[in-house]
Amino acid sequence: MLEERVFTAVGTSNIALIKYWGKRNEQLILPTNSSISLTLDENLSSRTSVIFSERLDRDSFYLNGKVQDINDGELKEKFQIINRLRTMAGVRDNILVVSENNFPTAAGLASSAAGMSTLVFAASNALGLNLTQRDLSIVVRMGSGSACRSIAGGFVRWNRGELDDGSDSYAEQIFNESHWPEVTDVIAVVSEGKKRISSRSGMRQTMQTSALYQSRPQFAERMARELAEAIGRRDFNALAEIAIRDSNNMHATMLDTYPPISYLNDTSREIMNAVHEINESAGEALAAYTFDAGPNAHVITTDRHIASVRERLSEIDGVSRLIESKAGRGPRILGESESLIDVGSMLPKRSSGDE
Ligand code: DP6
Repeated sequence: MLEERVFTAVGTSNIALIKYWGKRNEQLILPTNSSISLTLDENLSSRTSVIFSERLDRDSFYLNGKVQDINDGELKEKFQIINRLRTMAGVRDNILVVSENNFPTAAGLASSAAGMSTLVFAASNALGLNLTQRDLSIVVRMGSGSACRSIAGGFVRWNRGELDDGSDSYAEQIFNESHWPEVTDVIAVVSEGKKRISSRSGMRQTMQTSALYQSRPQFAERMARELAEAIGRRDFNALAEIAIRDSNNMHATMLDTYPPISYLNDTSREIMNAVHEINESAGEALAAYTFDAGPNAHVITTDRHIASVRERLSEIDGVSRLIESKAGRGPRILGESESLIDVGSMLPKRSSGDE
């Protein structure tokens, strides 16, 4: 039996500069290409407390003060990760998970990456599983692909891998958060609503119907190699072109899906034009945009140009706010005073929205 103890962790989101969009194995979540991301800092974080206890009569999960239906569709699939961890630890106790994001959930700001990586980090610690970073990323990957890149700080590559069992498809840090400290992500929040099509089903439809998608894995793999080199020599011009091309390549396959999928809106396209204008008038790349499965823009720039990029973005109609993030350092365990769980009642500490 486990000692009854709350474990609380904070973990962060990541922004892919080379995108993952498509699985070669849906059960194990094995990608069709390697991807590279920047782990974001605690301006885009999830705080998660977990406790395993025989006093709990079932598993439950509270997100931002609201109890979630863990028997429902995709959440059910993602929550299987807890069973996997329980089996690894030989534990049968139920779990209470209380999680809070400090940024819009499911609006394309990869809240699931922060949430899933932090949950697995907290739960594996609570279960006393001494996972290496590689094994941790493999477990997280099976919950949600892009989340596996949030297990480390700085620039992280999720290797496609070749093996059928997925044991070589893991995330690893390629450069730490101090390697290129000038790099900053200015996020233009365009919509805080929930997205229409989840990434999970969107990428499935793209793989099934897009003719353009045929060429994507090879292209992305080449871009991933070139990006790792560009980051290594801190070459912002190269980073910008690669990130922009890869984002547009992914969104082109979405549009080529039938029926078409379009996550971008007019504001997103105006931001794209603004970035190209900024770069053209400077005669070099000062900024790059990249979009996940949503209309919010991640505009990557460097310290010297943050102010002008912010100014230009805030002039655009439809941009509701800007969030800034540097490279983050990956998940960590917090002290007891940061816990979100009241052990006496086995409920979330805050009463708002609880049942
Ligand atoms: C567009 O990781 O959400 O953000 O593995 O099915 O859970 P599942 O998908 P998910 O897909 C994210 C795709 C993306 C690109 C990226 O982050 O690489």
